[in-house]
This record gives sequence, C-alpha cells and structure tokens, in this order.
Amino acid sequence: MEIISIVKQMQTHSEQTRQLDHTIGFVPTMGFLHEGHLSLIHDARKRADEVVVSIFVNPTQFGPGEDLEAYPRDLPRDIELIRQEGADIVFTPKPEELYPKNFQTFVELEKLPAHLCGISRPTHFRGVATVVTKLFNIVKPHVAVFGQKDFQQLAVIRRMVQDLNFDIEIIGAPTVREPDGLAMSSRNTYLTNEQRVSGLSLYQSLQKVQELLKNGIKNTEELIKAASELIQSYPETQIDYVSICDPDTLEDLPIIDRPALMALAVKVGKTRLIDNMILNP
Ligand code: PAJ
Repeated sequence: MEIISIVKQMQTHSEQTRQLDHTIGFVPTMGFLHEGHLSLIHDARKRADEVVVSIFVNPTQFGPGEDLEAYPRDLPRDIELIRQEGADIVFTPKPEELYPKNFQTFVELEKLPAHLCGISRPTHFRGVATVVTKLFNIVKPHVAVFGQKDFQQLAVIRRMVQDLNFDIEIIGAPTVREPDGLAMSSRNTYLTNEQRVSGLSLYQSLQKVQELLKNGIKNTEELIKAASELIQSYPETQIDYVSICDPDTLEDLPIIDRPALMALAVKVGKTRLIDNMILNP
C-alpha cells in the first residue's frame, strides 16, 4: 500500500492507473476510522481494480464554533486499518495544499442544503461539495462509495455529480451500527458512558416510529411527536430536528403514503449525532 500526500503525485498515479485500463474506486473520509468506513472500503474493493482512501479533515465543512480542532485523529491507526482492508492507496493531502491562500471557488447547491442538517449548519454542504469535487479531480475515480448514514450528504453528492456531469458512479452503502443499534461515528468517542446510553435514543426513536407506522399511524406530526418524546426522556439530549420527508427533495411530508425518509439530529451533551431510516408504508 502506498501513502501519497502531494496532489500532483496522486493525479499522476491515477492517470497511470487509468492508462493501464484499471478502474479506480474511491472512499473519501475524515479519518478516525471505524467499521462503517471499513465497510465502504470493502464495497469499493469489489467494484474496482484499485482502491484509494482519502483522509482529510476538511476545514470548509466545519462552521464557526464546531469541532474542527477537536475532531479525533489517529493517522497511524487509520493507515493500519486501511492496509488490513486491502486498499491500495491512502491519500492524505495537507490543508495548505488543498486550500492555498486566495482560494475562492466553491460548489454550492441551491435546494438540498436548505433542509435537515443544512439548517443548523448553513455552510456545511458547500464545504462538502467543494472538497469532494476537488478530491474527484485529484483521485479521478470511476466509482466512489458514500455511507447512507449521512443521507443528506449522499443526496447532495448524487445531485452534484448529475448536475456537473462528473463521469463517476456513486454508490450508497448501508449504515453500520454497534450491536445495540447506535450508528457508528468518529464522534461517538466524545461521549461519556451516560451520554452513550442517551445516544441510543436516536435509533430507538426510528424503530419506534417504524412500529407505530406498522400499526397504521401515518400522520407525521403524530409520529414526530412520539419520537421526540422518546428522545427527550433521555438525559442530556437536545433535539436539532426530527423530520419525515421526501427522500429525493428532503421536503417535509404530512402523511406517509409512499417511502419516506425519517432523519434526525440530536445533541447529546455537546456531541451532535445523526441517524436516519427509510420508512415504508
Ligand atoms: P466521514 O464522517 O469520515 O465519513 C466518511 C464516509 O463514511 C461517509 O461516506 C460516511 O457516510 C461514511 N460513514 C460514516 N459512518 C458510517 C456508518 N456508521 N456506516 C456506514 N458508513 C458510514 O463524511 C465525511 O467524512 C466527509 O463529509 C467527507 C465525505 C469525507 C468530505 O469531507
């Protein structure tokens, strides 16, 4: 496995891979890897001849007062995990190279970021779309794998790839959970033991709504109320949003009469957790 940190070297390597008619699979990450990330690498392995994993804590997707400095990092451990998973290249660019002085070009979507996480994180998806565009231009993948855990991010990337004619196949991979249901996240390491228990309220509320829907309750106001009450019954939880919406537009739905996305973001102490599930009537 090769570790590349310089943009030009990565581009040259990818160019050579393409000239050999080998396909490139790409998994972008911010590091501090867990089994969710590793499942994406495993998926990419099956789809391409060569797999590139990037590790870059992208400053432009963090808002003021968010956890950019505190974001957990452990590069040696990440590299070892990626090696075990059988990837070929780890790309670890430097912030100064990706965002030099006078950087001023951003990719911004008009509608999708106006919902869900974009409301409390107004510049987040412009940071994500911009860095993923840059990484696509550097890594030149044929296929890229993203997690459904960040459902809105996946929707933004799919839309952007269509709108800007990137010749890249986007794959959405299922959410990997801890045995008790908590969605794996690099941010879970921030949680104390008590907060870890409160973190279970996200998945439990998704399951509760699924159950209520099975029993015939389709009114989303009622379902959101039940989910919110369950979450609020746990200590240190503060709801950012609980939404039941159209999976394509992310616009709220009054009634579940077709497949709907239930998505939620909850602060547990200072840690913001997200989760989601597709609900079928
Ligand atoms: P990061 O949070 O490190 O996540 C990297 C990828 O792993 C994303 O596609 C995310 O959806 C996926 N992922 C995270 N937790 C998962 C889980 N429990 N199960 C399955 N997949 C999971 O998302 C980002 O980084 C950044 O925004 C990035 C796309 C790299 C751009 O900076």
